[in-house]
Amino acid sequence: MADFPITRTSQPKPKPADEGLAFGKLLTDHMFLMDYTEGKGWHAPRIVPYGPISMDPATTVLHYGQAIFDGLKAFRGADGRVRLFRAQRHAERFARSAKIMCMPELPVDLIRESFDALVSVDQDWVPRAPGTSLYLRPTIIATDVMLGVHPAHSYLYFLILSPVGSYYKEGVKPVRILASDTHVRAVKGGLGEAKTAANYAASLAGQRDAEAAGYTQVLYLDGVQRKYLDEVGTMNIMLRIGDEVITPPLAGTILDGVTRNSALTLMRDWGLRVTERPITIDEVMQAGRDGRLQEMWGTGTAAVVSPVGTLGYRGEDVTINGGRTGELTQKLYDTITGIQYGRGNDPHNWTSLVPAPRG
Ligand SMILES: Cc1ncc(COP(=O)(O)O)c(C=O)c1O
Repeated sequence: MADFPITRTSQPKPKPADEGLAFGKLLTDHMFLMDYTEGKGWHAPRIVPYGPISMDPATTVLHYGQAIFDGLKAFRGADGRVRLFRAQRHAERFARSAKIMCMPELPVDLIRESFDALVSVDQDWVPRAPGTSLYLRPTIIATDVMLGVHPAHSYLYFLILSPVGSYYKEGVKPVRILASDTHVRAVKGGLGEAKTAANYAASLAGQRDAEAAGYTQVLYLDGVQRKYLDEVGTMNIMLRIGDEVITPPLAGTILDGVTRNSALTLMRDWGLRVTERPITIDEVMQAGRDGRLQEMWGTGTAAVVSPVGTLGYRGEDVTINGGRTGELTQKLYDTITGIQYGRGNDPHNWTSLVPAPRG
């Protein structure tokens, strides 16, 4: 493991009980920082006590949102060891987000080493109860101090960690989603492929309106014709009609989800007919009315899979699989979590063990 300088906290926080953990409310004792300045490149990687970072009010990220992040998890297995799930793919996606957002090239190996080093230092924070995990949030922000709109010349990379509770305390539970024809999230040629702050800002009003109408999340349609499925809130969307599993293609407006890729890989391993193709909301609603829409689910790091029990569109609701979790959705959940917690085989080497803390 890389030998980064570590300043340990003199005031470790009390560790929370695993049972009460929510998402993203508690942060661990340390964080990883690294700076970038033009001419000097990325430099000064270090682990320091977790705490506020101070910024000039004219710092560009605060005005123009030149910011990227990613989100991945570490899991404590039944054997007590801690594993990261698909750290390489997350680090590569982070680098792609940087490129889209006009940031300097990211050293992917160094980013991966920062994951290992910080999780290793805060390893006691990885919870033990079933379904719990430690969430990693790598982030880069533009740190130039000036009010002009321009890609910055200086940046800060930080990595912070948060212990999170089980998403499904009472088993996998179907949700109600609303296909929106009023709000759009991204358009081709825009930022939809990047994990950047602006996309989440663009999703707030749609989410608020879906909740007000009694749904859990928004299913976004394409931004031009408002016909084709894009993605759901913070998840990619998949569905099964007859013997075909369908998911929208990576065509510039949606995030290349790591869980999406994992689910597609597994389903192809299982010999299923999996198609990445544009699909219209009319086709999905019609299949729902005819009873051919057998399963529909979202995929994402937070929930792994989230079955859709009800799909709403223009005042009509269709119920999918009697509002219950489908067989394939459940199999994906069981297989992926089996790999994450080290219970099942890991045929594609998706997990990596986090090194034990240095003495
Ligand atoms: C907009 C969006 N789409 C899809 C996903 C799912 O991606 P992943 O499976 O890599 O978590 C996320 C979450 O990261 C997201 O924020």
